[in-house]
Amino acid sequence: MSAIDLIRARAPDFAPKVGLILGSGLSGFADTLDDGVAISYADLPGFPETGVAGHAGRLLLGSVSGMPVAVMQGRTHYYESGQAGGMKIPVRTLAALGVECMIITNAAGSVNPGTGPGSIMLVSDHINFTGVSPLFGEPDSARFVDLCGAYDQNLRAMFHKAAAAAGIDLDDGVYMWFCGPNFETPAEIRAANILGADAVGMSTVPEVILARHAGLKVAALSVITNLAAGLSDTPLSHAQTMAAADRASQALQILLTGFLARYQGQIR
Ligand code: HPA
Repeated sequence: MSAIDLIRARAPDFAPKVGLILGSGLSGFADTLDDGVAISYADLPGFPETGVAGHAGRLLLGSVSGMPVAVMQGRTHYYESGQAGGMKIPVRTLAALGVECMIITNAAGSVNPGTGPGSIMLVSDHINFTGVSPLFGEPDSARFVDLCGAYDQNLRAMFHKAAAAAGIDLDDGVYMWFCGPNFETPAEIRAANILGADAVGMSTVPEVILARHAGLKVAALSVITNLAAGLSDTPLSHAQTMAAADRASQALQILLTGFLARYQGQIR
């Protein structure tokens, strides 16, 4: 049975409008879902094993303020397998379920010394510094995906309105994808700065490319968990990333909830 058939069997007639992918330490939003059905990735053919602490590995189908959403609690990363296409089936499954847009969150390091841990950045564009694509091997000309405007203007405007209404600072910025799993060197972060990045991280870009390929609109939020390599004396570690993500997760939840209310047309 395919993932899509299994989901339809477990949640008949469920038609999510928005898909969300929650990053490291950022899955608290999932607790705000009403009437959710939770399906372990292990039960969904083609969904990843999530081996990273902080990534739960569950698909949740439920609603937020009455709007049906599909929430991926956890993702796989390029660095886990050396395959950039690990999120192909999940993204395509959500598209097949009928989601119109994909909201992606991640933890990231800040390239700007003035933007510290706890800040949230709305991704306006990305730089793929890995040289790989989740679309390697795709058979037809649909693989030549236009990534201009990949981060949808209208969705971004809704996030800005949600942030303003809640008194949360939300700056736009460029996210640069490094493959990890090691953190960057200080020289790489200086290069990232020169190349126009505001934040660096090890995820998101493959899912954005897959979502655009599947015809979905996209928005992405980076929770800044640390200053990037060379910008502070605090040693970089996954534990520190998780702790800072946990501290910022409440603001992230407010943004996501405010966004969904606007998406649904409940608030302008
Ligand atoms: N670099 C890459 N990925 C990250 C970082 C970082 O500094 N912080 C959180 N994820």
